[in-house]
Amino acid sequence: MAILTGSNKIKTAVFISGTGSNLKSLIKFSNLKKSPITIKLIISDNPKAKGLIYGKIFKIKKKVFNFKNKSVAEKKILLEINKNKIKLICLAGFMKIISKNFIKNFKGKILNIHPSLLPKYKGLNTHNRAIINKEKFSGCTVHLVNSRLDSGKIILQKKVEIKKKDTSKRLAKKILAEEHKLYPKAILKIFNL
Ligand code: GRF
Repeated sequence: MAILTGSNKIKTAVFISGTGSNLKSLIKFSNLKKSPITIKLIISDNPKAKGLIYGKIFKIKKKVFNFKNKSVAEKKILLEINKNKIKLICLAGFMKIISKNFIKNFKGKILNIHPSLLPKYKGLNTHNRAIINKEKFSGCTVHLVNSRLDSGKIILQKKVEIKKKDTSKRLAKKILAEEHKLYPKAILKIFNL
């Protein structure tokens, strides 16, 4: 296997809206020799996103875009993406739905991580719905992004058992810990590593 150095790694942007724990785990992964990616850009729709701190900590360029006018925001993001030669976008807790137009105009792969075993429980409030429905398992999914919500080709999933005592907060925590491992594995998989 060829060893990838900083300069020939796939330039990646991570989109976040909140805490950014997946962003942090992706940054750590990107710094490993075996990782095919280098994170060049952090994008957020939310100036208060806690995860923006990782831009500062790890010295990665971060940009916040106002989504009041989504098509304007997306055009600006595409410019930034092209300027930085980004070939992979990882959505990680990004709370805006990316438009068809954006997907068509970005010449690379877009991945998302979702806290359920898709196609079950698309959208929000997944853990609560899984518990109310008395599911025995939930989990997380990394998938390619297409123009329908949480519906692109599934790359990898991880099952997590729902125990009787699990509240949605507790389940979210258990699943999040798995997300941090699953996203890097899915990236290795899409690049056949
Ligand atoms: C994760 O559960 C992710 O699957 C979902 O939003 C959450 C983001 O968490 N899309 P974090 O910001 O990465 O900590």
